Amino acid sequence: MTAQLNPRGDVAVLVPAAGAGVRLGAGGPKALRLLGGEPLLVHAVRRVAAARSVRTIVVAAPPLDVEAVTALLAPVAPVTVVPGGADRQESVAAALAAVPAGAEIILVHDAARALAPPELVESVAAAVRAGNDAVIPVLPVVDTVKEIGADGVVLGTVDRSALRAVQTPQGFRRAVLEAAHAASSDALTDDAGLVEKQGVPVACVPGHTHALKITTPFDLVVAEALLSGLSP
Ligand code: C5P
Repeated sequence: MTAQLNPRGDVAVLVPAAGAGVRLGAGGPKALRLLGGEPLLVHAVRRVAAARSVRTIVVAAPPLDVEAVTALLAPVAPVTVVPGGADRQESVAAALAAVPAGAEIILVHDAARALAPPELVESVAAAVRAGNDAVIPVLPVVDTVKEIGADGVVLGTVDRSALRAVQTPQGFRRAVLEAAHAASSDALTDDAGLVEKQGVPVACVPGHTHALKITTPFDLVVAEALLSGLSP
């Protein structure tokens, strides 16, 4: 039996949360690190569950933590928890396999983007509903970007105007994501990359600054400030 949020919703959200979080330093799986006294995963799931189109949430947890994560999320929202895989793509595939019939829009959302607001979930879902096979939230790149050679010397400066930083949730028509996962075993860092390899156009919607990826101890400080209502 898969727990449901809004039975009239058409969206299933997959939350890969099985990473070790090595770049955050010692302290266990990243999704279970505390932000404002609660695990990142709790923040992420609470915001996803607040989006009205969401019917189902499937979390891929570290295999040894499936029971603990199930207990942790029970008071937050009805979720299905599955064991994650060796890399992000395997974790997403495991979660995708657990999505029941009824949700034709699938969003994939990293637990590490714990403060992504429900409005972002809705805007990505709406863009898929409007007819796009694949949708990503993006922000302009503000830094100057250079390509560096193996010897550490600059090879050139990249034209920043055409670059975008990509966030999650990323949204897909269900059949498109399933086909992309079935076709590829390359470990990519996002799901849109898999879909691109199938030749499927990927549309963009505006991202959100609160959807920052919490990767380093500095990011945690920024996220704590956001959470307490301060502008960092
Ligand atoms: O490693 P990275 O920070 O890019 O991970 C992005 C997301 O993928 C995180 O939410 C992490 O928990 C998840 N992940 C996963 N299974 C893995 C590795 C990463 O679910 N084996």
